[in-house]
Amino acid sequence: MLEQIKQIESEALAAIAAAADKESLTGVKIAYLGKKGGLTALSRRMGQVDAAERPAVGTAVNAAKVALEQAINQRMAAFHAAETEAALASETIDISLPGRPWPAGSRHILTQVLEQIEDVFIGMGYTVEEGPQVEYDYYNFEALNLPADHPARDMQDSFYFSDKMLLRTHTSPVQVRTMERMAGRLPVKIIAPGVVYRRDDDATHSPMFHQVEGLVIDKNVTFADLSGTLLAFARRMFGEERQIRLRPSYFPFTEPSAEVDISCFACGGRGCRLCKGSGWIEILGSGQVHPRVLQLSGYDPEQCSGFAFGMGVERIAMLKYGINDMRLLFDNDLRFLHSF
Ligand code: DAH
Repeated sequence: MLEQIKQIESEALAAIAAAADKESLTGVKIAYLGKKGGLTALSRRMGQVDAAERPAVGTAVNAAKVALEQAINQRMAAFHAAETEAALASETIDISLPGRPWPAGSRHILTQVLEQIEDVFIGMGYTVEEGPQVEYDYYNFEALNLPADHPARDMQDSFYFSDKMLLRTHTSPVQVRTMERMAGRLPVKIIAPGVVYRRDDDATHSPMFHQVEGLVIDKNVTFADLSGTLLAFARRMFGEERQIRLRPSYFPFTEPSAEVDISCFACGGRGCRLCKGSGWIEILGSGQVHPRVLQLSGYDPEQCSGFAFGMGVERIAMLKYGINDMRLLFDNDLRFLHSF
């Protein structure tokens, strides 16, 4: 029996070595190790072997199996490697083929400018508040010292849902909502970015646009604080050489009120087309919070004071990036949007 095993093994090893390809190697495997293969048939005849010899025969059969399997696997691996090598050798890579473009998106210029503005104020310790775009007349006008018959309402005609509800015309109602929420606590120091709406539509006005509101209330907040804050903002946003100028103005919710101009960053103040020869560019409205506005929302004007400001984001983006038509910001022309 042991003789037979030896003989089958060496026969099989020779066949494995002689196999010319994967298919014939598989044939050899089946012939010796398959269900009806030579070695398998031998191990079936174990019952006829003397009990004393059986362990030795068993070991020999198993050793032969392992040896054959090893030899077959080795040969198979060699065939595979040769195949891969042949495939690689015949394959040519066209390195002149252009790569596939991978279009990279970018954030809308308005989003970028909004975030720049937010960053400047967050850096000065402000927190960011939001309010609803569909707003009550009370928050949009009434609580800001703009009663129903106030002529200043004309400048902010809007889209009404009913007598009492409208699309907010500015972010100033967030001042009122914040004061109500803070319930008299100090300090209040917030900015409120967001979308606002007005019945306006031309190259420098869109019926939907963005503002950033600011509100600071504390003990002894003065006009000097307002001025210093806005100077710091103007310099961060438009360059460290900027100056600001406050011009007396009127808003029902501030007293005194001021329009804030920055020295023109295009000509440095000498006068050019951008600043229409004046050397100054208007960027926002501001003022000391009107005592009545404080009072209406539960703050005592004898105990505290504050300043507020509001700016148009589109306007700032247009100034900063030299965009001459606001509608470009909303046309969604990728050639335009990708240029920032
Ligand atoms: N809400 C004003 C507007 O939309 C802008 C404004 C002016 C906001 C003065 C303020 C402010 O907070 O103090 O035209």
